[in-house]
Amino acid sequence: MYFIRQLTDLGSGARHGALAGWSPSARMGEVAKATTREEAADAARYFGRMRAKRRYTVVERDKIPGVYEAGGLYAAKPGADSEPLDGRLMEMSNDIERHELHDPGETFTTFVPLGSIERGRRIAAAAPAKSVTRCATCHGMDLRGIALVPPIAGRSPAYLLRQLIGFKSGARATATSAPMQLVASKLELGDMIAVAAYAGSRRP
Ligand code: HEC
Repeated sequence: MYFIRQLTDLGSGARHGALAGWSPSARMGEVAKATTREEAADAARYFGRMRAKRRYTVVERDKIPGVYEAGGLYAAKPGADSEPLDGRLMEMSNDIERHELHDPGETFTTFVPLGSIERGRRIAAAAPAKSVTRCATCHGMDLRGIALVPPIAGRSPAYLLRQLIGFKSGARATATSAPMQLVASKLELGDMIAVAAYAGSRRP
């Protein structure tokens, strides 16, 4: 149900990328628009049967390998180059060749600022503001989702961060996203990086 609703919202444009014209989001919108109801139902059944695997390792660092952009994601530059992380969240493929081959076993490293995971744990445990409930109240104690509230444990921190930015900026302003718009409105960028790092570091 959640799956089908997201495809519908992506197709109608109610959910789109926070960064105008970013091609992965734009392409997802086109695919969703071209998907029939039967195809969406079949895909929901197929993906619903899959077990989530841990593919992201969250690492706290202030210096990271030098990166280059490799078609919608980052990869480490060969050699010993390094650059300051500088408050960013930087996610990269561990093996860009496996990425290009669409290898489902591909793994990723997500670099986050020092102290992010503990900061995220505290935000998740205490709720970001008085008017907001804790993440676990809706997403489940282990953050693995409940009914129509999706799992966030063990998922790509870069994806989770993009969604939080999308809720806050209105790029993901669907009929069912009102609770998350309120939550995200209470989070600064550093808080979002921290909760994304924390959730992504949990077992999926
Ligand atoms: C009041 C309930 C509620 C609370 C509290 C809540 N969420 Fe959510 N969250 C939702 C719902 C509902 C959705 C699905 C929104 C939609 O349908 O677009 C969602 C979606 C998300 C998504 C997008 C996931 C995806 O698969 O695209 C992220 C990321 C997220 N929440 C993170 C958080 C974090 C982090 C917290 C705590 C700081 C939090 N949520 C607290 C209800 C909640």
